[in-house]
Amino acid sequence: MLDEHVALVIGGGRGIGAATSVLLGRLGASVAIAARTGSEVSRVSELVRAEGGTAMPWTVDVRRPEQVQQMADQVLRKFGRLDHVVHCPGYLPDPDFVWDVDPHQLRAALDVNVLGPVLVARHVVPIMLEQGAGNLVFVSSALSSRAVPGLGAYAASRAAENVLVRTLAAEVRGSGVRVDVFIPPATDTDALRQFRAALAGRGAPVSAMAAKDPDDVAEAIVRLCLPGSWRRADGAGSRAGYGPSFPGNQRPVRRHPW
Ligand SMILES: NC(=O)c1ccc[n+]([C@@H]2O[C@H](COP(=O)([O-])OP(=O)(O)OC[C@H]3O[C@@H](n4cnc5c(N)ncnc54)[C@H](OP(=O)(O)O)[C@@H]3O)[C@@H](O)[C@H]2O)c1
Repeated sequence: MLDEHVALVIGGGRGIGAATSVLLGRLGASVAIAARTGSEVSRVSELVRAEGGTAMPWTVDVRRPEQVQQMADQVLRKFGRLDHVVHCPGYLPDPDFVWDVDPHQLRAALDVNVLGPVLVARHVVPIMLEQGAGNLVFVSSALSSRAVPGLGAYAASRAAENVLVRTLAAEVRGSGVRVDVFIPPATDTDALRQFRAALAGRGAPVSAMAAKDPDDVAEAIVRLCLPGSWRRADGAGSRAGYGPSFPGNQRPVRRHPW
């Protein structure tokens, strides 16, 4: 379905990003899998290759402009194009009431959740504009629009991310590049376990809601990459007769379907 497509999953070493990488590879895309921990991106690359797919592990810290640039350059050099970018990194500051927020924690959240997406956009959007096609999905959080005591710093960083991404979507409208914010449900990953433990450690109420399987969440993300939802300007992998090359950035915030 995604034969000849090239995908870059940032934060693909574990959790939702890892599941998304494996699914993209299974559907035929060549997948570059990036995160800071080399052993994790190598492990996920092996999973993709074990199913007959093509994978490229890459270590990157999205807070480092030169590393993000090298990653984009390297993916382009190796695969010759870049059709999909799924951005998964997130930083959750220690839960604290707003008047107690540690400035270092807030800066750390802004670095990963706001600066990271901006740097990624800086280095991948020009590639996609040049191609006249591309698909960017930024994984954010439902907390971005909620006022939950103790989670203000995280929510504020995610709200800033969403506004930036929606602005980006408006800026590239009509170019063939599509940009989405994806809001996942509670998903059974290391990050959720740490989040719930941090809340419990502060005596805050912890949701007992069952978490979704990362594979199911990956399916919802990958749906945004499928022909019909998205298609390449050169038509590769596209569904005949689907209409205009791109549906356009009509719905820049995609909620999970549950
Ligand atoms: N799980 C949930 O219930 C849930 C709910 C709502 C929103 N989300 C959001 O969805 C996204 C994925 O969640 P997840 O649960 O799959 O998280 P996860 O298991 O912690 O995975 C995050 C991935 O991002 C990478 N990463 C973190 N910081 C990075 C950085 N500075 N540069 C490059 N890569 C970085 C991590 O690898 P390294 O540490 O090796 O870099 C890892 O591969 C996150 O943004 C999270 O906040 C999750």
